[in-house]
Amino acid sequence: MSSEPVHVLLIGSGGREHALAWALRKSFRTGKLFIAPGNPGTAELGTNIALDISDFDAVSEFIQEQGITLTVVGPEQPLVDGIADYLEARGCAVFGPSAAAAQLEGSKSFAKEIMQKYGIPTGEYRLFSMDGQNEAAEYIGDCTTWPLVIKADGLAAGKGVFICQDRTEAFNALDYIREDKALRSASDRIIIEEFLEGEEVSVFAVCDGETAQVIAHAQDHKRIGEEDTGLNTGGMGAYAPTPLLDHESLAEITRSIVNRTIEAMKKEGHPYKGVLYCGLMMTPDGPKVIEYNCRFGDPECQVILPALLTDINDLLLAVANGRLDTIKIETDPDVYYTCVVLASEGYPRSYPKGRVISGIPADTEHLLSFHCGTGMDEETGRLVTSGGRVLNIVGKGRTLRESITNAYRGVSSVQFEGMYYRRDIGAKGLKYL
Ligand code: AMP
Ligand code: GLY
Repeated sequence: MSSEPVHVLLIGSGGREHALAWALRKSFRTGKLFIAPGNPGTAELGTNIALDISDFDAVSEFIQEQGITLTVVGPEQPLVDGIADYLEARGCAVFGPSAAAAQLEGSKSFAKEIMQKYGIPTGEYRLFSMDGQNEAAEYIGDCTTWPLVIKADGLAAGKGVFICQDRTEAFNALDYIREDKALRSASDRIIIEEFLEGEEVSVFAVCDGETAQVIAHAQDHKRIGEEDTGLNTGGMGAYAPTPLLDHESLAEITRSIVNRTIEAMKKEGHPYKGVLYCGLMMTPDGPKVIEYNCRFGDPECQVILPALLTDINDLLLAVANGRLDTIKIETDPDVYYTCVVLASEGYPRSYPKGRVISGIPADTEHLLSFHCGTGMDEETGRLVTSGGRVLNIVGKGRTLRESITNAYRGVSSVQFEGMYYRRDIGAKGLKYL
């Protein structure tokens, strides 16, 4: 690999981006590192830059001015909006898929159609148009198996999925989707899907358009409450790797899900480049796709990047430049990481901001802290809460249990008013050891 410095522009502002910035800073190849817009955590590792990331022209100008070698896109929205297409057309190397390929996340109906056409295992489903509400209502009226899953088609920031236990809940979900402006404007389609039973796992593969390599797997904790109860969130914690997957099941997932998806996207004329996040349900009939995402998971990224032994610049550039075959990806096989998300009281509903944060532990061999929803109070210069998910505390261990203990030891020193976190992150993994 060349040892030229890589000047990086990283797009995003959450814990995932703080973890990416941390990994990039660790790489001896990283030259300049800009994060747009970044957060107070990324400011310690590079230069935060107040670029409007929806203004692709401004992003492109910045890249030219600074001689950026690689642009890494953290979140899905700019990818679905076509930032990779725009920048690549101007000669920039981008880690992240084209808008057409990002439809795997941006349109659940697109993803379902690909899976059906190419024999990729997923739940049974029916597609309805938003205007044809009567057809959806008739389908629900005739349904005899519950629960049933109803989803709005477009990007919905986690708010477009309804698991309905009976007809009343299903009709309410239909009404909600129809009346919610954001959901309606994202797409005019509704998916009604079979409820899949089992444990959920997240599998991550990097793909350069031609081939894919699975780099990690993890388990997220999506519900707000312990033992997976209460409202769905962006993710309240994660651990990796998950003992739910062994060598054999991973080989099967690579064959029947990852490789088939990459082949499918090539055949459809939308080669997939970037990281493919497969959200899977381990059902009694084998792994099935619940959803695809076109980016690293958050908080999964925070527990998979620390185990990566391959230089991150080598990896991301190989993906961006279609040269994945030239590198061997290695991860530390003997470590576990557990991430506990510290959230604001009220999340995922409305929550207060501006609460003073103290006691963030210093990074050690066994502990890392990443910022997600933090900000600087301009008057006092103090670190305050500014989002629903505020901080990520990541513990490392030679066993899953040790990584959990280290994560919660780190959590114990942090304080802000109304701090909420789940106390059982990783416990569901211990059951399988
Ligand atoms: P999604 O936004 O599609 O990832 O859905 C959010 C969450 O809803 C998933 O992480 C699952 O926990 C749950 N979910 C979605 N679809 C299904 C399904 N077909 N069966 C069971 N649970 C589901
Ligand atoms: N942790 C779930 C997600 O990133 O979508």
